[in-house]
Amino acid sequence: MTAEEAVLKRHSVRAYEDREIPDEIVRALEEEVAAVNAEGKLAVRLVREEPRAFRSFLARYGKFSGVKNYFAMAGLPEKGLSGRVGYFGERLVLRAQELGLNTCWAALSFGKGSAKKAARLAKGEKLVCVIALGYGKTQGVPHKSKSFAAVAKADDPPVWFRKGVDCALLAPTAVNQQKFFFTLTGENKVRAEQKGGFYGQIDLGIVKYHFEIGAGKENFVWEE
Ligand SMILES: Cc1cc2nc3c(=O)[nH]c(=O)nc-3n(C[C@H](O)[C@H](O)[C@H](O)COP(=O)(O)O)c2cc1C
Repeated sequence: MTAEEAVLKRHSVRAYEDREIPDEIVRALEEEVAAVNAEGKLAVRLVREEPRAFRSFLARYGKFSGVKNYFAMAGLPEKGLSGRVGYFGERLVLRAQELGLNTCWAALSFGKGSAKKAARLAKGEKLVCVIALGYGKTQGVPHKSKSFAAVAKADDPPVWFRKGVDCALLAPTAVNQQKFFFTLTGENKVRAEQKGGFYGQIDLGIVKYHFEIGAGKENFVWEE
């Protein structure tokens, strides 16, 4: 499965089967976690066979069921942590999708105390959010989406820019708010902004990862 196919197939799934993740898949996930921690200066942990974090009132209220595995998205509380959690967390989400698993980001509907304990964070590390993981009872459904014009601006946009925005529109965002905005500011320069909202910096990291998949990293640079 290519990254683009994973982007198309991924939808949030909140109800999971009672099925263990096979060892070889766990190894592949652990490899990706190690790469993400090194490249993203993060302290992500893969927590397995731990049902407590998604048994809380908030988790059940959020319609989660059967969640026993999750990525604990953590790092030192330095500048840009939320953005890196979004960007590299979505890389884990799409890798999981390629490996036949389903996921759902959770910043609110889970038991933070239980997750923190299970993740065995080192002193000073902050748990930003988690990503539920496992074999879904369904594959989820496509979310309602804003239009290209509502989230992007470009005079005579090149194909790569359109593809980048299309991919970003398929990305998960908190409460599906899609409050991001992409502007083509030069021949191959793109500005990515977040227009407020809950967990906006995590969302911005996520949609930038999707944009790069659609547009192709070789075709543009981010405006600093
Ligand atoms: C940063 C972030 C936090 C989220 N937190 C929660 C949450 O606490 N509970 C929940 O049920 N869904 C949560 N979601 C999932 C979104 O509701 C979901 O991604 C959005 O509705 C779009 O649907 P899709 O992922 O199926 O495309 C979160 C998503 C993101 C990106």
